[in-house]
This record gives sequence, C-alpha cells and structure tokens, in this order.
Amino acid sequence: MKLIWLSDLHFVADGIELGHDPRARLKAAIAFINQHHADSAYCVLSGDLVNRETVEDYSALAEHLGELRVPMLPMVGNHDDRQILRSVLPLPDGCMDEFIQYAVPTSEGLILCLDTHKIGTPAGELCAERLAWLEQQLNAAGAGPVYVFMHHPPMPLGLPMQDMDRLDDGEVFLDLAASHGNVKYLFIGHVHRPITGTAKGIPFATMRSVLYQAPAPVPAWDWDNFAPAEEAPNLGIITLSALGVNLEYIQFCPYAEGT
Ligand SMILES: [Fe+2]
Repeated sequence: MKLIWLSDLHFVADGIELGHDPRARLKAAIAFINQHHADSAYCVLSGDLVNRETVEDYSALAEHLGELRVPMLPMVGNHDDRQILRSVLPLPDGCMDEFIQYAVPTSEGLILCLDTHKIGTPAGELCAERLAWLEQQLNAAGAGPVYVFMHHPPMPLGLPMQDMDRLDDGEVFLDLAASHGNVKYLFIGHVHRPITGTAKGIPFATMRSVLYQAPAPVPAWDWDNFAPAEEAPNLGIITLSALGVNLEYIQFCPYAEGT
C-alpha cells in the first residue's frame, strides 16, 4: 500500500511566507502527486497546514487541496486551529470529538494520526485523554502493525531550536508505544528537516516542509534575521507491506518554485 506524506504547508491565502509562495509550492506538490502517484491510498498532511489559523487561509487551502486526486488525512500542528480545520477539511469517521486524532484501518495495518497540538505554544503535548485513546488503539491492534503519524517529535533530534518545542510528554508516549511492540514506525513533522533514527527501538523519520526548510542548527538561529535554508522541498512516498516500511524522499519542484 502506498501513502503520500506532506508536512508543514504553512499555507496562506495570499502573500509570501519566509520568501516563498505557499500556493505555488502546494500546487507543485499536488501536480506531482496527481501525475505520478494518483494510485496512492492516502495523502497524510502532518500538521501546520496553515500559518495563521484564519478561516480565509483554511478555505483557500481546502480549495487548493480539492485538486488532489488522493484521499487526504489532515492533521494539526502548532499553527493549526482544530475547529476551523474540522469545518473545511474532511476527517475520517471515528475522529475524537475534541481532538483531530483518529485511526485508519488498512490492509497493511493500522494508521494512527495523533493530535499533539498544545494551544498557545509551539511545543506539543498528548494529554491524558489523547494518551488513553492511543493506549486503547494499541491494545485493540494486538499483534497487527501500527504506523503512527504525529506533528511534534517525542524525542530530541540534536536540533537545539526545534528540540525546545518538541512533545512535552515524549518519554511517556515512547514508553507507551514501545511497550506494546506493535508500533512499527513514527512519521514526524514540525522540524522541516529530514532525519531518521530509532527511539526506544522504534524507527522514525521526519520530513521536509512543503514550503521552507530549516537551516542547519549550529550556530543557533538569529530570529531577527532568520532565513530558511536554500533547499528544495520534499514529499514522502511511503510503501507499507508485509516486509516492512519504505520511505522515499522526493523533490517535487525546484528550489526557485514560488520564490
Ligand atoms: Fe510545527
């Protein structure tokens, strides 16, 4: 089964964000997907769908995403608004009432899209209610494979500026996931850089942003003169099978697209 993975769109209805045009970048991603991977089962959008949490931006985003020929799984990041997202984008049946957190059963295992949003801060959290839901899902999955998508990393990645804003209760999450033995992979947004590794024995990958890429972490960023890295965006092609997980990072447009 094939999935598309897009992260950190930071979409705005008009204007430029950090030197790039979010409409042009998203259009390029959608054109690439429709041309080469329209046979994918889902396109997961791992949070920070918009930059400013306005109805106008979400409406324009929904209009752009209407061109996508692959069913989407939208998620929240620290820049998102649950209520507005819910009002303009489709969500799977069984989504939690208060959170944009849901499970998608597939032929290759269970996909869990977590809501790590913590209102008022760029950092993330999984409160008791969301953790209890997760535990229930992991118990019900038994020995079947579980694939988790989440916006905030539950572990430090050696990126000082992003590590400050990771999942607050990451250790609790990792202990829960590792103790069940059925979580086969973590797909993580938020950091705008491609990093892979393992955490408590669970493999993970992060994804570049559709819009702008985070510069190298050292020296520490100067926020008054912040400039994104001059690197092209990527999307992910994920293949899930009985053998395991394959993730291909693909550049879908030149760096200059939308600049
Ligand atoms: Fe984020």
